[in-house]
Amino acid sequence: MSFDRTIKIAPSILSADFADFGREIRAVEDQGADWVHVDVMDGHFVPNITFGPPAVAAFRRHVTTVMDVHLMIAPVDPYIEAFARAGADIITAHVEAGPHIHRTLQAIRGAGARAGVALNPGTPAEAVEHLLDLADLVCVMTVNPGFGGQRFIDMTAKVRRLRQMIGDRPVHIEIDGGVDPSTAPQLAAAGADVLVAGSAVFRGGSVSNSAPYGENIRAIRAAAQAALA
Ligand code: DX5
Ligand code: ZN
Repeated sequence: MSFDRTIKIAPSILSADFADFGREIRAVEDQGADWVHVDVMDGHFVPNITFGPPAVAAFRRHVTTVMDVHLMIAPVDPYIEAFARAGADIITAHVEAGPHIHRTLQAIRGAGARAGVALNPGTPAEAVEHLLDLADLVCVMTVNPGFGGQRFIDMTAKVRRLRQMIGDRPVHIEIDGGVDPSTAPQLAAAGADVLVAGSAVFRGGSVSNSAPYGENIRAIRAAAQAALA
């Protein structure tokens, strides 16, 4: 996995058919997804429950791009090894999930994965200022985590600030929540390169009719790239 700042679209399988993850993953990849975003929720850090390491290991067999695992769980540290063994390429933990995010990021890299750090909408960019040499990705939440299909919360100023703080470091800026062709341009212009999208990718399509996934992915990518031209 080499580093670049080109726009990458990461469909969130939170909006996929939960009875058909294998085919859904292959469908979005065939339709142009750059990464596959996997939302892990524990019913404690966030008010929703999704899936654990065995499910993520099963997804791995279908992912040929990059499996981007977003942990919305607390505590995080006891589960890092299991998600790394499940085949996560990137493991992202929230700064709000506990007092020792620095140790958590070290543990993620120690387990052989790339390390991501996520910020809830109410958390300032400065919360990751002393973590940037330990992180491969900063995820800026543009909804309060827990559910797909929520209304976008504008975090453009935070993205701009992070982009400055990151400087030349090889750290991705990922946006998660409410990304669609109307919100993507301002985020790309501010310095985001990974755009997670659930409802805006999966809407209108299905595994047996996956062309809309491709149209949706291309529309988000084109809107973001146009803002960089
Ligand atoms: C929200 C998740 C997101 C979610 C985004 O807690 O982290 O990844 O799937 O969904 P949309 O794109 O529908 O806002
Ligand atoms: Zn997510």
